[in-house]
Amino acid sequence: MLHRTLLAMCFVIGGLVSYASAETPESALGRRIFEQGIGRDGRQIGGRIHGNVFMRGQAVACAACHGKDARGGGEAFVRAPDIRWHTLNKPFAPRRAGLPRPSYDQTTFARAIQQGIASNGVQLEPAMPRFDLSQDETAALVRHLQTGEWLPDGEVSSKVVLGLLPASQSERWAQELGDRLHSCPSSDSLAGFPPLEIIPYTDPPDALTKLAAKISEGRVSYILAPYIAGWEDQYFEAARDWPVPSLLPVTPLDSPAHPNFTFSLPGLRSQVVSLLERGVSGRYDVLTVVRSEGDLLSREMLKVVRREARMRNVRLDEVTLERSHSIEKGALWLILAPLDNVAKQLRNVRHKVNRTALVPAMFFDPAAARRIEKQMPGITWQIAYPYVPVNTRTGRWRSPLEAWAEAGCALLAKIGEEHPGGVSGQSSIVLESGLTLSNAHDDMSRRRQVIVAPWEQRKALQ
Ligand code: HEC
Repeated sequence: MLHRTLLAMCFVIGGLVSYASAETPESALGRRIFEQGIGRDGRQIGGRIHGNVFMRGQAVACAACHGKDARGGGEAFVRAPDIRWHTLNKPFAPRRAGLPRPSYDQTTFARAIQQGIASNGVQLEPAMPRFDLSQDETAALVRHLQTGEWLPDGEVSSKVVLGLLPASQSERWAQELGDRLHSCPSSDSLAGFPPLEIIPYTDPPDALTKLAAKISEGRVSYILAPYIAGWEDQYFEAARDWPVPSLLPVTPLDSPAHPNFTFSLPGLRSQVVSLLERGVSGRYDVLTVVRSEGDLLSREMLKVVRREARMRNVRLDEVTLERSHSIEKGALWLILAPLDNVAKQLRNVRHKVNRTALVPAMFFDPAAARRIEKQMPGITWQIAYPYVPVNTRTGRWRSPLEAWAEAGCALLAKIGEEHPGGVSGQSSIVLESGLTLSNAHDDMSRRRQVIVAPWEQRKALQ
């Protein structure tokens, strides 16, 4: 996983701004090696990681791990130390247990980067590459580490967490999510929240340009709950290469298995399969799938449903709301459209049939459910939630928006606490309210995360 991440990092450093100040050829060479992994005469420097993975150029540029400002940190997945010269030059108690480390000089520095031996003679971790740098390249690096325009010590370049939301006011849900993330409730047990900056976008290209620009400034530590519904593919494609993980992407789709996408909630596919797994169970031989005609997402889901139905020997009756003459006949519904739209189609039905409706949480709406129940007494709802739908402490039901905001705030607090290895490295986070965020990416674990529960009006809204 490590070198995949490193490969991902290597694309980002390319866009670094160039310095206008007068540089000697030597410190310019040092800076190129440091930032871009380009050595004498334009050659790509090489480094061996973990004993046998040999990588070149940008992927092993010092800045990729030690940070553009050489302060170290490891905002992505590795923790690399501060290597500004005035730090290396100090004698240190090491970061890990063991002998104190004497200050570095030119010779021990060269030995560290070429052979991976620290100034105290101890082997550095295999994540630190062993470099094929020549003596003059090494001297140029030292020069750069001595003279680089680093921030003075007191001025910590604070890390920013980015959010991403559509600028359009018509996306009410997204706006409310943003408001909630901006005003996360703090509690005594939570450390301070890191600064959260929410970037509004007009369209996907605009979003990607703005994010890439922010990331190249080098101060972004995570992207939290980016709202990418409708253009998931574009986002995932671009975000694979960023040195910054996206936590909890807000999307109806399952996010791909990749270390850059962490704490994603299970998507529609996982929810639909879970509903069929638990809802169909031999009692029904026909499944009525209700969706909207032009809706691309539900058309995608239909493929999943067809396959699952075939496996379970269930016949499918595919109904679109626009042509809904047969919707009332079905005894088992799978609803892949907003429940409010379904309610509008059901005028003057009024008959009692024992009927079950399977609904992914994002399409469910308590008010619409009530209206449908008036027309169709005897209907029961089975809802698939990508999260625990009830706050175990207060007993209150959570809407998807509440769950997403609560999870976002919890992650923000975790980032504030600064876990070793970073928040995204944890396998799961369990909140006091019962909400569990898991980092599992395979289909089975995603499905296990889905909770299918009947809708109980009175209980839910008490
Ligand atoms: C792939 C990530 C990665 C890259 C690229 C990388 N380093 Fe490192 N470096 C590390 C890690 C991780 C450590 C900590 C190793 C340890 O603690 O054992 C480290 C340690 C060091 C140390 C020892 C610091 C100390 O306090 O003992 C020096 C010096 C150093 N790196 C210099 C460089 C230079 C110069 C470059 C570029 C030519 C570079 N590193 C590129 C990951 C990296």
